[in-house]
Amino acid sequence: MLMTDIIEKKRDGLKLTNDEISFVIDGYTKGDIPDYQMSALLMAILLKGMDSEEILQLTMAMMHSGETLDLSPINGIKADKHSTGGVGDKTSLVLCPMVAAQGVKIAKMSGRGLGHTGGTIDKLESFPGFNTGISEETFFKNVNDFGIAIAGQTADLDPADKKMYALRDVTGTVPSIPLIVSSIMSKKLAAGADVIVLDVKQGSGSFMKTEAQARELAENLTRVGKMAGKKTVAVITDMDEPLGNAIGNALEVKEAIEVLKGEKQGELLELCLTLGACILTESGIAENDAEAREKLLAGIADGSALEKLAQLVEGQEGDRRAVFDTSLLPMAPVQYEAICDFRGYVNHISAADVGLVSMHLGGGRETKESVIDLSVGVVLKKKVGDAVAAGESLATIHASSLEKAKEAADKLLACYTIVPEPVEKPRFIKGIVR
Ligand code: URA
Repeated sequence: MLMTDIIEKKRDGLKLTNDEISFVIDGYTKGDIPDYQMSALLMAILLKGMDSEEILQLTMAMMHSGETLDLSPINGIKADKHSTGGVGDKTSLVLCPMVAAQGVKIAKMSGRGLGHTGGTIDKLESFPGFNTGISEETFFKNVNDFGIAIAGQTADLDPADKKMYALRDVTGTVPSIPLIVSSIMSKKLAAGADVIVLDVKQGSGSFMKTEAQARELAENLTRVGKMAGKKTVAVITDMDEPLGNAIGNALEVKEAIEVLKGEKQGELLELCLTLGACILTESGIAENDAEAREKLLAGIADGSALEKLAQLVEGQEGDRRAVFDTSLLPMAPVQYEAICDFRGYVNHISAADVGLVSMHLGGGRETKESVIDLSVGVVLKKKVGDAVAAGESLATIHASSLEKAKEAADKLLACYTIVPEPVEKPRFIKGIVR
């Protein structure tokens, strides 16, 4: 088989066979197929697409490119959650303890942030001492003992996706439905959970700009999950503005804790209730959505969801006291308000640009090697639909110096579009694909 023939076939819009797809993934993972040929094929896939059979085969080939986790020694239903990536997305920090408190086992592999998006693993490292590189033995033990463990993805799990994602990132081939579906589902299937819940982001801060694209992605993700024998649900949610208020690692942890303490309502809680209800009903722990929500809210009210977060932190060598006393989390030396000079209503907040403001403050990585400052970031005080008075603060900047704070405040003001007429709050949950 020749890679050039396969590239030309896809370039001409033809369907690849199972053998051809396996040949590509096997050859690229081993290093036999060079980056320049793989780049050409990825671009051909982005432009010409793949049918559902090709997408399934690509997913399976990627999943089998490395180790797969066998979670069967862990008793009970194992659930996993994945987001297609966004700004201020601290959902896993809230959702995983919430559902683990209801008896679902969470054995989750998460990633680090790159560019304008954050990653759960970085956020968790805000807890002093937290170890995201625990051994497989500790990972399994914690899931069994506490019902929850979240670790960094090991190098052995889905090596094809690691190489392909890095290549896609620099070749303009990320926003392709077949490539996103195979990337996400190969990792999720390799990680071995019974129930998979996917948060498909839609809007300017995500890969899927329109609701139709997000729905198509959600339908493809659930189709592949089901074909692979997993209970899979996708929830389509807004990522036109950042999720919640905090953007930046320790700041997001703090916001997550506020939700788990029952001190904060709003879209983040709503998202966690929606995703959590999908997990509880698919796991058979709740009969229906209403019962599931009741259980999840009771777990917040009686403190068991917060205690589950403390167990997660403690089980991975972190300081559990920081869950109850957030002054123990990293804190930036400078807080600075981004003041709006005129009155009006917030019409839009560019999520991607707010992510970049946080990244430039040091809260995100420009390259894979960048060392991040866990304490810095932005806390939005105004969201879409809110009224703003002249001289009011739109956001608080948390920075390592006044100079950086002032520069970030100027950039942040440019992320906002303020209009004279009142603006309706956007619909946050846009659909559920089961
Ligand atoms: N998240 C992933 O894991 N892969 C993609 O391709 C896009 C988002």
